[in-house]
Amino acid sequence: MSPEIIIPDSVIQKLKTARHVTVLTGAGISAESGVPTFREAQTGLWAKYDPQELATPQAFRRNPKLVWDWYSWRRELVRQAKPNPGHFALAKLANLVPKLTLITQNVDGLHQQAGSKNVICLHGNITETKCYTNSHFVESWPDGEDVPPKCPMCGSLLRPNVVWFGENLPGDALSTAVQASQTCDIFFSIGTSGLVHPAALLPMYAIENGALLVELNPQPTQLTHYAHELLTGAAGELLPLLVERAFDS
Ligand code: APR
Repeated sequence: MSPEIIIPDSVIQKLKTARHVTVLTGAGISAESGVPTFREAQTGLWAKYDPQELATPQAFRRNPKLVWDWYSWRRELVRQAKPNPGHFALAKLANLVPKLTLITQNVDGLHQQAGSKNVICLHGNITETKCYTNSHFVESWPDGEDVPPKCPMCGSLLRPNVVWFGENLPGDALSTAVQASQTCDIFFSIGTSGLVHPAALLPMYAIENGALLVELNPQPTQLTHYAHELLTGAAGELLPLLVERAFDS
């Protein structure tokens, strides 16, 4: 136990008795796995680029090689990354409460690797590749001159299966996420800046419907003002402690 870390009793008590727990995660939960958060400074070669200007259909149409290369770099970081104690604590929590809905904005698949089931991926999965024009999913492509490679079925350019700024979220994922936010007893917003809609609206649906809203983040965010309780710190440290204090006594 780390006595210096404060987890409010109201959070522990609500978690113990909740029938439905909904969790929204963002890039912060994977920070301790070495996946850079979206808005922190990029390093090395990519330091001069703004991720928000690379993650758009317009950027891809303007300079498909640049966008493909940036995602290849991120995909490699994700391949090397392993889930951290925060991901594992959420997978464990799902087995300790009657119902847990895990919604993530992350495209890294680390929740699934940690053992979480039925994860709602609002922004896609970086390890999957599809073509730009027809969304044909492609598993491999020849190593050749073409960057990005072309779809073997229709010849259009390949791109990552992620949701770019200005694109729609997968409709079924979004509607399940909205419903889970409206029907939970406690909603955790973990490691997200709350800047990107519609994900940022999910905590609002939860409070409108009477849930306790708990934010876990080392920094204040857009959401902090609305949260009933704040857990200030790193997800990899706080989540295992939260689960331990609620269920291991
Ligand atoms: N534990 C918890 N939170 C952390 C940690 C940590 N160890 N380290 C950083 N954070 C917090 C930061 O303080 C910040 O509030 O994680 C948040 C990360 O914010 P963003 O980089 O904006 O990521 P996110 O909110 O997931 O972005 C949403 O925007 O660009 C799109 O598709 C992209 O899914 C992404 C979405």
